[in-house]
This record gives sequence, C-alpha cells and structure tokens, in this order.
Amino acid sequence: MTHSRRLGAGSLGSLLLLAACNPQPSAQQSTAGAPATATGSVRTPSAPMPTSTAFGKTTDGTEARLFTLTNAHGMTVAISNYGGTITGIQVPDKNGKTGDVVLGFDAVSGYQSPAFLKSGPYFGALIGRYGNRIKAGKFTLEGKSYSLATNNAPNSLHGGKQGFDKKIWTATPARSTDGQSLTLKYLSKDGEEGYPGALDVTVVYTLTDDNGLRIDYTATTDKATVLNLTNHAYFNLSLGQSKDVLAHEVTLPADRYTVVDATLIPTGELRPVKGTPFDFTTPHAIGERIAQVPGGYDHNWVLNTTTGQHSAATVYDPASGRTLEVRTDQPGVQFYTGNFLDGTLTGHNGTVYGKHAGFCLETQHFPDSPNQPKFPTTELKPGETYHTATTYTFGVRK
Ligand code: BGC
Repeated sequence: MTHSRRLGAGSLGSLLLLAACNPQPSAQQSTAGAPATATGSVRTPSAPMPTSTAFGKTTDGTEARLFTLTNAHGMTVAISNYGGTITGIQVPDKNGKTGDVVLGFDAVSGYQSPAFLKSGPYFGALIGRYGNRIKAGKFTLEGKSYSLATNNAPNSLHGGKQGFDKKIWTATPARSTDGQSLTLKYLSKDGEEGYPGALDVTVVYTLTDDNGLRIDYTATTDKATVLNLTNHAYFNLSLGQSKDVLAHEVTLPADRYTVVDATLIPTGELRPVKGTPFDFTTPHAIGERIAQVPGGYDHNWVLNTTTGQHSAATVYDPASGRTLEVRTDQPGVQFYTGNFLDGTLTGHNGTVYGKHAGFCLETQHFPDSPNQPKFPTTELKPGETYHTATTYTFGVRK
C-alpha cells in the first residue's frame, strides 16, 4: 500500500533516528563548538553551524531570517523562516563553476509583492496543509463536511488563501553527522483555512555531503484531518544562462498520470502515458512535446514504485551538465513547467522569470484525494504520526 506516511514500527524507528541525528542545540551551543553526545550525532566540535542573516521585514513588521546551509563541497542552500522557503541553491556545473539553480528573491519583500501574490507561483515554499487542489474547496471526513478557503476558482490550491507558504515558522539551525540542518515548526490552528484539527508540523531540511537536500515532514493532529505537504521549488539548472527549461531532459518513472478536468481537478482516471507526450519513462527534453499539451505540463504522475524511498524524477541539463535526482516515499509527483510565469517577476541577479523559466517536481499524494476514494488516502487521525521524506540530489555529467 502507499500509506507510507503512516508510521509503522520500522518508520517510527527511523523517525527516532532522525531525531537523534538532528540535535537542536540551545542558542549558546549554536555559536560555540557543540559537545559530543551519547548518540555520537555531532559531527566534530568545530563543524560550523548554518549561518543566519536578516531577510527583511514582512508586511506586518516581523523580521524574517535567511539561513544558509553549507556542505563539505561548498554547496549551499538558503532557506527563510518565511514560508520555509528555499530561496537559493548553489551547486557547481560541469566546469566546476557554482551557480544558483532555483528561482527566488533576495529579500522577503519579493515573496510578498503584489505581483507575486497575484500570480501565486509559490517559489520554493513549503506547501500545506494540502499540496495542489481540492475540488470546490470541499470534502467530507468521518461524516462531517468541510469548506476550505478557495483561492484558485473554483478550487482550493496549496492550502488556501493563507497557506503554510505565508507563515513565519520557528527555525532552529543545527549540525549533525548527516550535515547542517534547519528545523522549522509551525502549529496550524483547528479550523485554519477551514481544515479540521490543530496540526503540529515539523519540517527538517538537511544538506548532506553527497549534494543532497533532504526534506523530512512530520505532523500530528488532535482531530481527523487531511494533509499533503510538499515543497514548491522551481528549478532551472542553467539559471541566468537559459531563460527557460525546455532543453532540460526529464525522466519520470511513472507509467500513468492522473487525468484532469478544465480546472485541473483529477477526473479519477489513471491514464497510461504510453504513446503520449506524458511518457517520460525514458528521457525527453521538456520542450520536445510540450506544444501537444494544452497549457504545458501541470499534472500528477503516478509513480510506479510506492514503497520505501524510490525515484520520482531524474533531470539532466545538457548546457550546464548539471543533474537532479529526486527520491521520495510519496505515490505521486506534480511535474509543473512554470506555465503561468509571464515575465512580471524579476528575481536574483535581475533575472526575469518568463514562461517555462523553471520546473517544479512536487512530491505528493494525488490532487483532490479527499474526494477520490480510490486514491491513496491523505487522512491523518489523532495518535498517528505523518512522516514523509524527499531528497533532491545534484550532480554533474560531463
Ligand atoms: C500547480 C499549478 C500552479 C502552480 C503555482 C502547481 O503545483 O499544479 O497549477 O499554477 O502550482 O501555484
């Protein structure tokens, strides 16, 4: 079954291990050398902590912070406590030249500008409570009907009007044997955006020395609820060099995808990709067949493997030589090719983000699962612990 988010004995063990590997030092420990622990999880007494810098004030006057994780190869990942947003990922290309590979802004104001909020691209943000759409913002759970905030007429998208992407999370930087990490916590109140149950969410970003960015999502609730957490990073492995990602070659190990209606809600049909422009079971350039897909790719692929950590996507950019491998325990991946980007947003280094400037690989349960009894369940009950993990690993091919 695909309910990998429900903890069995084995996954509880891995969660405990995860907790042991992510010691959360006090403020004093965070600046001094951390002491060795019984678990041996502290890397070395002199291993550096992630850095923290100002990221500007939010519109309500809160100081946002930007944390930068660095690994042994000099790869860096910048994450804000505003929305848990990945604002930058610096990795080398085939010539060893480091460059940014995600769309983003230099200050929190970029993420709160009227143009950004109007177009709603969710650059790099943590998405919750529910990644992607819920039809008409309505669902029934344990005999009760719920109405969510609708923000993508007529549906609810990415958690509603004030989703997790727009919240300030409590952030704790740390270091462990796995690498530098940032733990983000957010308590979503019962009824927030219409969702039942107070939801206690923890997301841990860990940058490993094999150039992997692992994201661990954990949550508990005090009432039965639904959730589908993901990250909305837009990748362009030639950012600043290529204005779009059409030459990137993508592989998706998925024989089927979820067919959608005109408002991008799944009809329930899982359609074979064979013989269609949705067939990425072998590598294809994004631009090769995109003209045959009205609007561009914005669909959920049904991953062939649903147990354990499995591949969700592989990407190769011939121009930079960079590669991206996505692994997850989730049953689906939303492959979205930045179809709604229209050049109204300008990000890092003055780069204008036009149509197809980036692509997203949002690991997830299928859209609108609360209304689709045949899809893997997204329900979480009191006493259960939701846990999923996704890793984005970067490399080069020469
Ligand atoms: C959705 C798109 C949407 C984008 C930005 C994606 O996950 O599938 O339809 O435009 O997020 O909001």
